[in-house]
Amino acid sequence: MKIAVLPGDGIGTEIVSEAVKVLEALELPFEMESALVGGVAYDAHGHPLPESTLKLAKEADAILFGAVGDWKYDKLDRPLRPEQAILGLRKNLGLFANFRPAICYEQLVGASSLKPELIAGLDILIIRELTGDIYFGQPRGRRVATDGHFPGAEEAFDTMRYSRPEIERIAHVAFQAARKRSKKVTSVDKANVLETFQFWKDVMTEVGQQYPDVELQHMYVDNAAMQLVKAPKAFDVVVTGNMFGDILSDEASMLTGSIGMLPSASLNSSNQGLYEPSHGSAPDIAGKGVANPLATILSAAMMLRFSLNQEEAAQRIEAAVQKVLAQGLRTPDIYSEGTTKVGTQQMGDAVVRALRG
Ligand SMILES: NC(=O)c1ccc[n+]([C@@H]2O[C@H](COP(=O)([O-])OP(=O)(O)OC[C@H]3O[C@@H](n4cnc5c(N)ncnc54)[C@H](O)[C@@H]3O)[C@@H](O)[C@H]2O)c1
Repeated sequence: MKIAVLPGDGIGTEIVSEAVKVLEALELPFEMESALVGGVAYDAHGHPLPESTLKLAKEADAILFGAVGDWKYDKLDRPLRPEQAILGLRKNLGLFANFRPAICYEQLVGASSLKPELIAGLDILIIRELTGDIYFGQPRGRRVATDGHFPGAEEAFDTMRYSRPEIERIAHVAFQAARKRSKKVTSVDKANVLETFQFWKDVMTEVGQQYPDVELQHMYVDNAAMQLVKAPKAFDVVVTGNMFGDILSDEASMLTGSIGMLPSASLNSSNQGLYEPSHGSAPDIAGKGVANPLATILSAAMMLRFSLNQEEAAQRIEAAVQKVLAQGLRTPDIYSEGTTKVGTQQMGDAVVRALRG
């Protein structure tokens, strides 16, 4: 089981070290190799995703990724900015399915801005299509309008499009994920207005017929945005396109109130995946030893489940995280009165102890 370890910038190195420590404690035959990515790779090699890093990522079964970016690179040309590394990895590895679970841990119910009874026990999975839609559709650009409300005026335009195979493959991912959970998929679209999403809905319905054991519900995106804050526990697996997924996954992740707790996975058709916390490189707290490593540790658990076929080990990590939370250990981002404040390394050590204990 080969894992490419790409810590990146800012808190990336601190949180990935803790996840590696937890993986090592499992005593499984992992082969882990690290490489530079993001701003540190630009500093060393003049590119945020050097050839050698890309080669390592391609050859690995899974990639454990920290975060990239720092304000000091903001003046670089766009293709050389650290954030391009993640886009380059997605593109080169064909990572089309983005998994963002939003789980509300019992001990952290108070961190949410919603009422405790709405989110206690929340466990939903947003699956976002990651390589298509209006974010990548061509043509796009600026021009002088020849029609519309203001002919002759300057305008900008993008193209929203989805092909049948793109929708089919993300549909299968969603139905198969639902089979392992409570067997319910909500497909989010805007079929009432957009041709692309009427097609999305039709194809979802067709694919759904191959999964008679899974309930399929369709919902317009505006309603889904409302329902996510009104009754989030009514959802299980939510599948949607790139743009709607971008917005809804951030909304869903914030239901839990703690960005330092949220893992994510991006998978391709051979289940090779990139696993990373949902947050960024947090330059404001980098080097201080206070970053919460749990999102990265939980991303490592997702890696074991989805790419390395080690469900039991994944559950062991998740149970260990629950245990340290139950012990009252908290990094500053999730700290509340009556709990024990710990740093990044102490949190990682506590997870290792819980794993062994
Ligand atoms: N996939 C990625 O690598 C990724 C994703 C988002 C942002 N970024 C980059 O990260 C940099 C900073 O972006 P930002 O500040 O908007 O977002 P951010 O997620 O890095 O930070 C937002 C806030 O959350 C806090 N935070 C984030 N992770 C935390 C953790 N594990 N523990 C405790 N607190 C945590 C930060 O201190 C900050 O106050 C930018 O350069 C941005 O481009 C990278």
